[in-house]
Amino acid sequence: MKGVELKEGIYWVGAIDWEVRDFHGYETPRGTSYNNYLIVDEEPTLVDTVKYDFADLMIKNIKGIMNPRAIKHVIINHIENDHATGIDRIMNLAPGATIHVTERGRKGLERFYDISAWTVKTVKTGDRLKIGKRTILFLETPMLHWPDSMVSYVEEEKILFSQDAFGQHIASSARFDDEFVSSATAADLEDAVIDYYANILMPFGQLIKAKIAEVQKLGLDLQMIAPDHGVIWRADPEKILRMYLDMAEGKTGLSVAVIYDTMWHSTERMTQAIARGVKDGGLECKVLKLRATPMSVAVKEFWKARGTLIGSPTLNNIVFPTIAQFLTYLRGLRPKNRLVGAFGSLGWGGGAVKEIYETTKQMGLEAFEPGIDVLYKPTFEDEERCYEFGYGFAEEVKKYHGRF
Ligand code: FEO
Repeated sequence: MKGVELKEGIYWVGAIDWEVRDFHGYETPRGTSYNNYLIVDEEPTLVDTVKYDFADLMIKNIKGIMNPRAIKHVIINHIENDHATGIDRIMNLAPGATIHVTERGRKGLERFYDISAWTVKTVKTGDRLKIGKRTILFLETPMLHWPDSMVSYVEEEKILFSQDAFGQHIASSARFDDEFVSSATAADLEDAVIDYYANILMPFGQLIKAKIAEVQKLGLDLQMIAPDHGVIWRADPEKILRMYLDMAEGKTGLSVAVIYDTMWHSTERMTQAIARGVKDGGLECKVLKLRATPMSVAVKEFWKARGTLIGSPTLNNIVFPTIAQFLTYLRGLRPKNRLVGAFGSLGWGGGAVKEIYETTKQMGLEAFEPGIDVLYKPTFEDEERCYEFGYGFAEEVKKYHGRF
């Protein structure tokens, strides 16, 4: 095993996690990869490590190229466990190496490891590391998506090692965007990018725009973007930059998602009538029952649609537990630029629809009101009201979409 060569002397030496389906609670139906990179130069340099379970694979890949003891520098772009928990194995093999990390990264590293025996150099934006014929430029990216985060740019080869940014949770034998697209489809890759962005980077749109502008101002030519998860962007790095800028600006499809749960099928019957109304109103509509849908998929579909209708039965005067969980997860992601409406069935007092509006308004989302409550079981007239509600929502979403 010797990894995969990106450019002459620069290798992917990471690991593919074909099995993971629960990534700290985030559903990963495609698995993922932990990418890290070895630059063979006068002073060999490792960029990031991998999750501890996969350290043996990383070390085998490195050994297929060179003796790890000769590694002179280890760059830690991000200290989260899936990337930095291979560091002690590397430092055992290459005790003379210098770790390069941001100040916040160093402080975080101290919480995970006893670093007293390691040589650690803190770096900041604009610092450069000369490793022989190559020079590595560091650029801090705080809160993208942890305080410690940074990216590293090889000036001669014009490769950006972007840590989590521009990644995707994909386990594939394809290491590059063009390889993946030839064995799957461009739509599969785009879906993986959106899924990752929605669940990890949604709160940071403004920071993303500012950081991409900073990169452009520095005049960095990004001929290859190598993230820490998924495929490396070598054929079309512009594509991922465009996608990120569009998502950061709140651009999305003109469509509707209906996300609901149900106890005795009443809210489900409302959903069916509403979905027909949305469709007849002229918009595609994706319907997701939460007990049958991973939370991360529901968030992705919320993000992909300009408008979402959330349906919940009232249980003990409040929303159904799965809807509460969805709203809590969504609140943390600080969504913007989406229109929301609510509906649901009730037995006596009600409360779910009101709570959905209150919660989504607290998030700053715009509301399509009034919502619809139905007592016990929808009558024919109730279903007609639901249909009209869906139709009206589609009309409103089209107008709302015109703002972006
Ligand atoms: Fe892939 Fe923020 O770790």
